[in-house]
Amino acid sequence: MEKKIKIGLFGFGCVGGGLYEVLNQSKLLNAEIVKICIKTKGKERSIDASNFTFDKNEILNNPEINTIVELIDDADAAYEIVTEAFRKGKNVVSANKKLIALHLEELIQLSQENNVSFLYEASSCASIPVIRNLEEYYNNDSLSKIEGICNGTTNYILTQQFAHGKSYEEVLAEATELGFAETDPTLDVDGFDSKFKLDILIAHTFGKIVEAEKLLNIGIRHIKNEDVTFGREKGLKIKLISRAEKIGDKVIGFVAPHFVPADHFAYNVENEYNCVAIQALFSDKQFFLGKGAGSYPTASAVLSDVSALQFDYSYEYKKFKSGRDLEFSNDFLARVYVGSRNKLTDQIEFENVEESFAGLEYNYKIGWVKFSSLAEIDFNKREDLFISFFSEDVKFENVNDESRVEALESAF
Ligand SMILES: NC(=O)c1ccc[n+]([C@@H]2O[C@H](COP(=O)([O-])OP(=O)(O)OC[C@H]3O[C@@H](n4cnc5c(N)ncnc54)[C@H](OP(=O)(O)O)[C@@H]3O)[C@@H](O)[C@H]2O)c1
Repeated sequence: MEKKIKIGLFGFGCVGGGLYEVLNQSKLLNAEIVKICIKTKGKERSIDASNFTFDKNEILNNPEINTIVELIDDADAAYEIVTEAFRKGKNVVSANKKLIALHLEELIQLSQENNVSFLYEASSCASIPVIRNLEEYYNNDSLSKIEGICNGTTNYILTQQFAHGKSYEEVLAEATELGFAETDPTLDVDGFDSKFKLDILIAHTFGKIVEAEKLLNIGIRHIKNEDVTFGREKGLKIKLISRAEKIGDKVIGFVAPHFVPADHFAYNVENEYNCVAIQALFSDKQFFLGKGAGSYPTASAVLSDVSALQFDYSYEYKKFKSGRDLEFSNDFLARVYVGSRNKLTDQIEFENVEESFAGLEYNYKIGWVKFSSLAEIDFNKREDLFISFFSEDVKFENVNDESRVEALESAF
């Protein structure tokens, strides 16, 4: 039976404010925001002060409120709010990928112990309805691969760089001015945001919870115009790709820049758009495209979760039964490009070098490397190096299961 959702909302910024508006416009939903908790006193608000509180307990202790919607920008404070909400028997909807990626196992356990729902569609690629599809639609199909563009800020920067030949620094400054990038863009440009989203997607794709710190995230901070030009001359764009695959009993996953050709699913995904591509055994390749950020697009995913609560929906995590035994691995080979304005000597240990160029102001090498050796280098801090992968070129040693090898070969 449809029940009334009485919401205690945390956060009234980009997404929280958006939710307030879309909820008011959506006449179909039997839901109401009872109170909104915010942080900063004296800030101008678009609605009456009587809607707000600065005391989280006023919401958490209110028995009338059956649902907490957590839309704040502080993962530590969110952890306190969400765990307390579970203990008080309230359902929770969240968009907070950092909170979820860092505490997923514990949050699932606590929500289940307290018999409440914990939904977070907006946490991964905002408006793209990927998590519920992974949970429900793909429940009986064996998934071998998921990849995509999971961060709008970096995709905006890469799109503008490629289109206008501007430097990374110029485009970042413009993106900050336009509100596409945070004043401190570290989480976005160093690939952390993409990694948190990938971590959540891995859990729902393969049923495996991987500690976020195990997933390598290499961002775009040190991209130079020469790297973009190298790609352009070969018909390739650079995209920040989050990717994960299941090979036999192993799961691999990482975030890094990739050169993609014109027939790659991500090639024409531009600006703040995100995308997700899934490889399944029976349904084969499928592709989702949508806005990965923004007030209304993100609020629409939150709204969908709230709506699902009317029917007591919760994720069942059915894939966890088989996924638990999978092993996360960095034990594979990848073909990479490394560009630098310095001479490239032994910064990267190549298994073989297929192509190289050494000039006065620009150098590059392309070849196969052991991924595990890359994981030992903090590329986000190596101003002298830009590394980019190639979408097709990852291969595994010691994989005996032929069907899985075939699945890999047929993957995009
Ligand atoms: N923006 C997007 O496009 C997008 C997309 C997907 C997911 N998300 C996620 O959605 C969440 C919210 O993002 P946002 O862009 O809406 O952030 P935002 O615009 O910066 O707004 C954050 C809100 O959280 C409130 N807040 C911060 N700490 C709080 C606390 N301890 N208690 C109560 N309220 C607190 C702030 O209060 P004051 O107003 O008083 O400062 C503000 O209203 C984040 O987890 C983000 O990762 C955002």
